[in-house]
Amino acid sequence: MINELTADDLRSRYVKYFQERGHAIVPSASLIPENDPSVLFTTAGMHPLIPYLLGRPHPAGKRLVDYQKCVRTGDIEEVGDLTHLTFFEMLGNWSLGDYFKQESISWSHGFLTRPDCLAIPAERIYVSVFAGNEIAPRDNEASDIWQSLGIPLSRINFLSAEHNWWAVGPEGPCGPDTEIFIDTSRKPCSRGNECLAGLCRCGRWFEIWNNVFMSYNRKGNDITRLKVNNVDTGMGMERTLAVLNSVESVYETSTFRGTVDRLLRDSGRSREEVYAKPGLNRALRVLTDHLRAAVFILGDERSVTPSNHGQGYVLRRLIRRAIRFCEQFGLSAERWVEASDTVLAAYGEAYPELLTNTERIHEELRLEFQRFQKTLSRGTALLEEQFASLRAAGCNILPGDVAFRLFDTYGFPIEFTQELAQEGGVSVDLDGYRARFENHREKSRSAAAKSGLADESQESIRYHTATHLLHAGLRKVLGEHVQQKGSNITRDRLRFDFNHPRPMTRDEIAEVEAFVQAAIDRALPVTHEMLPCEKAKMSGAIGLFEDRYGNDVTVYTIGDVSKEVCAGPHVSNTREIGKFEIEKEQSSSSGVRRIRAIIR
Ligand code: SER
Repeated sequence: MINELTADDLRSRYVKYFQERGHAIVPSASLIPENDPSVLFTTAGMHPLIPYLLGRPHPAGKRLVDYQKCVRTGDIEEVGDLTHLTFFEMLGNWSLGDYFKQESISWSHGFLTRPDCLAIPAERIYVSVFAGNEIAPRDNEASDIWQSLGIPLSRINFLSAEHNWWAVGPEGPCGPDTEIFIDTSRKPCSRGNECLAGLCRCGRWFEIWNNVFMSYNRKGNDITRLKVNNVDTGMGMERTLAVLNSVESVYETSTFRGTVDRLLRDSGRSREEVYAKPGLNRALRVLTDHLRAAVFILGDERSVTPSNHGQGYVLRRLIRRAIRFCEQFGLSAERWVEASDTVLAAYGEAYPELLTNTERIHEELRLEFQRFQKTLSRGTALLEEQFASLRAAGCNILPGDVAFRLFDTYGFPIEFTQELAQEGGVSVDLDGYRARFENHREKSRSAAAKSGLADESQESIRYHTATHLLHAGLRKVLGEHVQQKGSNITRDRLRFDFNHPRPMTRDEIAEVEAFVQAAIDRALPVTHEMLPCEKAKMSGAIGLFEDRYGNDVTVYTIGDVSKEVCAGPHVSNTREIGKFEIEKEQSSSSGVRRIRAIIR
């Protein structure tokens, strides 16, 4: 391809353009969010910048530019189509209370159209802007700016909050946005005049950039204006490359070429054959995507290795899922593991941590493959037998205890079993599976890591439940903005970090203590249930939500005092806790307070 724009080109042009406009480059943050227990992975470029968008001064200044590694696994089953990926890069430029709509929009327009930047013909650019609601007005300002740059009103769509209001999660900084689309000039779809950029999903419009005018903050049901107006923009690297290079899918861009070529070569399959067979093409794309994601997670500076919880579980799931697709594609999993070198070659320069951690990446991929290799075929055989006997019995539900055995004995993540079952025309009794899983968890107490428990002693478990009461007490006394930022429990004390803008007063501390003690003295029952994430949110539970595996979360309820997403373990009645005392309240980092408390 002549004049192909590569990922390195796009990254460096982007950074240079914004540096020339006074932006300081900040390095990509870790894939594992720091101080944010509500998500497993960094899911957008703005994620690591949340504290600064909320007002904390950034050491590098008020204008920033970056490229950020991100992981989103919510749509993992869509991977294999033209655009979905579990790992992606987001380019971003940021104004922390500095410039606003005028500069943001004209600079975006300039970067897209200038001959020394992306040189996109202006007539291919379409945009959407916010249509307005009870919180923020119709964004005529953004529309006027676009028009002054030569984008006619006919290419500007005013859309509702569903499309043009951006927030990273249920709480936090948010605001109206303007989204930028490139017309791929694919043949018009059947909607005719209704085929609008931002609304129609026929494939004609590729959204490549999103400029969020972040002037609001949501806490619970309240939305307030931030003291300053911020700008958060995010350009999706892979889809921008795909559209600029006029290729059909992100997998045909230079970023993936080395991996795709290697996987084709090692499988002995030709490109033509694979492209002609949708099943093979999908497998190739899944193998390519999952390999890159696994390499980035393993290579992250905050090291993650495959395990049965949290980020480690997502990693395990990606690797094991890929190993199965290897079979489908006719590739040995060992070759797939070795192809990780192509990812390192493509990304080592932009993300040097991958090179520092190369050994770990190789080693862990190999170990995980060996662990699973032993059980994959035995588990699959068990499943085949089950399918046969279910069919003979005229039943199409795989019992929960079989799914659990596959998890427990053969290491099949439940989502993986579900996929296999679906292919076999069978569904899985998920409730049964969950019941078995919970039962097992209670026995093995395997979930310590997420809860901040260093051990599973009775003392630590008492502290753990006390932590939930403390969290509830802080929200009650200081306000609903309080969220857990960290927790560390030993047999001798608890330590709890939470966001709050100032030191607590003596009275506030006494009030929180009294709140916790009252809950203990009332001898409240502690119960838990597993709920789909959506339901848990609606029930008002607080805590870790996004990207939880299986979309199911365990909610612990303490009487009428606390409802929190948590992996346990906990005492079964608050009277087991004893006497609660706050020993210290101090600053932990900017905007974050730390409490140390003991129980007697
Ligand atoms: N936060 C916005 C997004 O992820 C823009 O960066 O699209």
